[in-house]
Amino acid sequence: MENTHNFISPKTNLIGIGAIKDLPNELLAWKLSKVLIVTDKNMIKLGYVENVEKILKSLLISYDIFDGILHPNPTVSFVEDGLLNFKKKWNVFRRSYKLIISIGGGSNHDCAKAIAVVATNGGSIIDYEGYNKVTKPAIPHIAINTTAGSGAELTMFAIIADNTRRVKMSIASPFITPFISVNDPIFMTTMPKEVTASSGIDVLSHAVEAFVSTEANPSTDSLAIGAIKLVFEYLPRAYDNGNDLEAREKMMFANIMAGMAFNNAGLGYVHCMAHQLGGFYNQTHGCYNAVLLPFVFEFNAVSIPERRIMQLCEAMGTITQNRAQAVELIMEAIKDLSARIRIPGRLREMGLDERDIEMLSENALKDISSFTNPRQGFIDDMIGIFKAAY
Ligand SMILES: [Fe+2]
Repeated sequence: MENTHNFISPKTNLIGIGAIKDLPNELLAWKLSKVLIVTDKNMIKLGYVENVEKILKSLLISYDIFDGILHPNPTVSFVEDGLLNFKKKWNVFRRSYKLIISIGGGSNHDCAKAIAVVATNGGSIIDYEGYNKVTKPAIPHIAINTTAGSGAELTMFAIIADNTRRVKMSIASPFITPFISVNDPIFMTTMPKEVTASSGIDVLSHAVEAFVSTEANPSTDSLAIGAIKLVFEYLPRAYDNGNDLEAREKMMFANIMAGMAFNNAGLGYVHCMAHQLGGFYNQTHGCYNAVLLPFVFEFNAVSIPERRIMQLCEAMGTITQNRAQAVELIMEAIKDLSARIRIPGRLREMGLDERDIEMLSENALKDISSFTNPRQGFIDDMIGIFKAAY
C-alpha cells in the first residue's frame, strides 16, 4: 500500500544565537548582482535592516528596500506595491533582482513570497490562491526571522488578504518555500510583549493542529510534541522578560519545529477560521488562534485516537488515564496559558460581529487548511464553534 510523506523545508536553515554571521558565506557562492529587501519601517527603526545592508555592502551587492508592509495582515495591494520595484525605469528586465531578502515576522515573509511568485509567474497573486497553482519557481528568497513565530520563514504557505472579498487567501506551493531561513534570537529580543504572546501562541496552534492533522506522521509528530513542550515551558518566561535569551532561543526552536511540522502535516479548522477573522477585522492572527484552539479541539476530539490525546495532555504537563478528562485538561491548559500571557479570552473582544459569523463560517470551510482537519464539519459546526468562542 502506498503511503508517502514528502518533507519540504528550506534548503538551508541558519539557526541559533549569532546565526546571522553565517549569511555572508551563503551569499558569497551566489555571485549576486542585485537584491530586493522586503520589510517594514519598524525593522528599519530597530536597525535590523541596517545589519543586512552592511552584509550586502561588504559583498558589493546592490540592493533596494521595499518597506511598504504597513500592518500585520499583508494585502494584495502591498504585494502590488512591492512589485512596482520590478517596473521602475532602471529595472528594464523584470527579473533584475536575483534574490529577495525578507526581514521581519510572518507578514513580511508572506508578502515577500507573494512578490517572488508574481515576479516570475506574472498575473496577480489572486491567480495563485489555493494549493499548487504556482507553475514556475519564484525568485529565490532568504527569510530573516524576527518573531517566534509564524513559521513563515520556512514554509510553503503565504497568507495574503484580499480586501475586495474580505478574505485571507492561502497560497500553498513548494515553489514559494524560502531558499534559506535565518532564525537568530538576537533579532527577537526587541519583540514587544504582545507580539511575543500572539506569535508564541501561534506556535502552539501550529503544533497542535499538525499533531492532530490527517497527514501527521512520525516525523511531524516528534516535531509537534517537542514544540508543545517548549512553548509551555518557555513562552511565559519569554513573555515576562524579553531579554531572557535562553527563553527566546527555546521559543525560536519551538517556532522552527512547529513550522516544519505544519509545513508537512498541514493545519486545521483553527487556522481556517483565524484566517477569515484576520481578513475581516485585521487583528493579530495568533490571538484569534488562541481563542479558537480549545473549542476546535473539543469539536475534533471524537476523531482523535485516545493514545494521541494522552500524548498531547502529557506534552502540556498534565497526566490522566481518563479520555474525557484529558480533553478537558487540554482545553484548560491552552486557556490558562493564553490568560497567563494576557491574550483576550473571547472573539467579541477582538472585533467579531455576531452578524458576520455565517459568512465567516462559509469562507472558513473553503480554506485549504480544512482538508487536513481530523473531523470534517459542516456550516452549522463552524457556526457552533464561532459562537462558542464568541
Ligand atoms: Fe498560524
